[in-house]
Amino acid sequence: MNPKMKCLIAVAWFAMVTCSPVYAQERTPSKRFNLVEWNGGKFVYGADYYPEHWDESQWAKDAEMMQAAGMNFVRLAEFAWVKMEPAEGKFDFAWLDRALKVLNAHGIKAVLGTPTASPPAWLYAKYPDIAAMDENGVRYRYGSRGNFCLHNPSFDAATRRIVTAMAEHYKNHPGVIGWQIDNELGDPVCYDAACRAAFQRWCRSKYKSLDALNKAWGTTFWGHSYLAWSEIPLPWNTLGKAHNPSLALDHRRFHSEATRDYLKLQVDILRRISPKQAITHNLMGMYDGVDYSRLAEPLDFIAWDNYPMFGENYANYFGPGLAHDLMRGAKNNQNFMVMEEEGGLPGWSMFWGRQVAPGLYRAWAYQAVAHGADGICYFRWRTSRYGTEQYWQGILDQDSYPNARYQIIAQTGKELGQLTDLLKGSTLSSKVALLVSPDSRWAFQIQPLVKDFNYDRQLSLYYGAFRRAGHCVDVLFPQSDFTGYKIIVAPSLFVVDTKLAGKLTNFVKDGGTLVLTYRSGVKDENNVVTNQTLPGPLAELAGIAIHDFDPQTNQKQEVEDPQGDPHPAKVWFDILDPLSAETLATYGNGYYAGKAAVTRNHFGGGSVIYVGTEFASEDAYSKLAHYLAPGTDMRLDSNLPEGVELAWREKGDKKIVFLINYTEKSQTVSLGESMQNALTGNVEPAHVEIPAFDVKVLTSK
Ligand code: GLA
Repeated sequence: MNPKMKCLIAVAWFAMVTCSPVYAQERTPSKRFNLVEWNGGKFVYGADYYPEHWDESQWAKDAEMMQAAGMNFVRLAEFAWVKMEPAEGKFDFAWLDRALKVLNAHGIKAVLGTPTASPPAWLYAKYPDIAAMDENGVRYRYGSRGNFCLHNPSFDAATRRIVTAMAEHYKNHPGVIGWQIDNELGDPVCYDAACRAAFQRWCRSKYKSLDALNKAWGTTFWGHSYLAWSEIPLPWNTLGKAHNPSLALDHRRFHSEATRDYLKLQVDILRRISPKQAITHNLMGMYDGVDYSRLAEPLDFIAWDNYPMFGENYANYFGPGLAHDLMRGAKNNQNFMVMEEEGGLPGWSMFWGRQVAPGLYRAWAYQAVAHGADGICYFRWRTSRYGTEQYWQGILDQDSYPNARYQIIAQTGKELGQLTDLLKGSTLSSKVALLVSPDSRWAFQIQPLVKDFNYDRQLSLYYGAFRRAGHCVDVLFPQSDFTGYKIIVAPSLFVVDTKLAGKLTNFVKDGGTLVLTYRSGVKDENNVVTNQTLPGPLAELAGIAIHDFDPQTNQKQEVEDPQGDPHPAKVWFDILDPLSAETLATYGNGYYAGKAAVTRNHFGGGSVIYVGTEFASEDAYSKLAHYLAPGTDMRLDSNLPEGVELAWREKGDKKIVFLINYTEKSQTVSLGESMQNALTGNVEPAHVEIPAFDVKVLTSK
């Protein structure tokens, strides 16, 4: 590229990023569930407790130790079906009543798990087909948990019976404030005849006619047209990737909806019988077997299971950070709780990592709070002596000694008690958002594109860049409210329907900056390739045409940015033909050297950046983030030091700022103003020092 061109591009880029208009519209918060009010004014703090695993004589001592650690909450019973229904239709809640009595006497309230994740052996023995069937036609055998078929009538009846009995028994219990439905719903996918018939019914209800289905799926290919609903198969993976991708995407949607319907079946029973108790479910962060934005709809609030398990690099906090934000985003940015927070070293038949410094357990709890958690419940109170999870540490080890984990968790409990009034009612509100498309995620799993492609890695790369630059990031789903954001990054938006294309167009017209990346707008909602020039329904918005692309070929490729700096690139290279767009960066090598790799298009009051490739280094993403959003609300003058996180919640015009140091050395961050330390009451200077593995909670003075 010639120097004059480079200069023009650099000026244009700068002008674009500094002149983004201020939004007239703000997001309207819907009615939000307040966890602190729900828990009688206390920050929800506790542990997952299994009284049935311990001698009753230990319960009072446990409750005392919990109370001394600032705990006011437990989750109970989510795997105790056989204890509560030892024989079909015969119930025994006496043991749970006694456990609740002991816990309640120490100021500890409970959420009860409906125990359907672990059906009793007698139920399997009597109704063997409640077990899911794998794709080879083999039914799961008894011995683990969760392996049930979502469409089995006997399991449906057994579910209704136990949930109804629990709801009737506990509907007026003052120590039971809510319910967790099942446990980590989502797997496995069942391939038995009941599920196949259910899928056929689902297709019928969606498409109404076989003509419509055949057209939508393009079954003319390989002569796969269906002439009767009963001919429609399940997409067995044993066929490799040879199945019709449209059928496969619909099957993902079907499984996701079936999972939500199963959850809703239980929610409806509980709401009917005990309308005053709140209902949640423990989700799994980045897990993608289910569309969490839909699963969350029937719930009062989201809870999720957070095991940071950073491997050796504890300083990389982006993984759990993104998962927290995705959990918040799955319920319209509403605050949530962590139902299983890592309370010790994880493992099953063996330990899975190294032990971490006790301070990290506190740091991870504050990270959750900084991202919108109004409750922390550790998994688990004490490590099990029995079963699969003997190597999955709880807070206490089997000997109940008040170890270092207990001490730091107790300290955190006291601090969160102290911060409750401040935190109560505060929320997150970011200017930058990441759009997650469940359809695109599934479509890429069905057809993985190229060997090294990874949708979630793209999410993380953009997420990490904005977070390092000091921005909070919200996560949006296609049906979320897009108003109020300045920047939406929508990595590899592969599957786009006209509704989503329209929402994005309005967002840009109204002044937003949209970042699109390679393989966007390729498929319609049926997972069928568009016949428009790429990026399909987003082409006009992006102001480009793509007539050629180059998947990873192990060649050396690099992209030159407006400052002339080269950035190595990999995986995929969309060769962009700018129409109304300007070129911001070009490819350095190959037959398309000099052609556009990154473009920017003004559209309405906003603009669209199209990044046609994946950069191989974080630097390019950081540079992009700084260009797109120069300056942050916190007036950081550069990236945060590695391993230090900055996030904040807002309450009126007050900011509650969290600085978390995940490294073993002291770090300094310059916030541009002195602030008050909410824990000590001291004033912290503009250059705040955060000791190793420590946390600072600051408020504007
Ligand atoms: C999950 C489950 C828990 C427990 C932990 C640790 O999060 O919900 O029941 O099994 O993992 O393995």
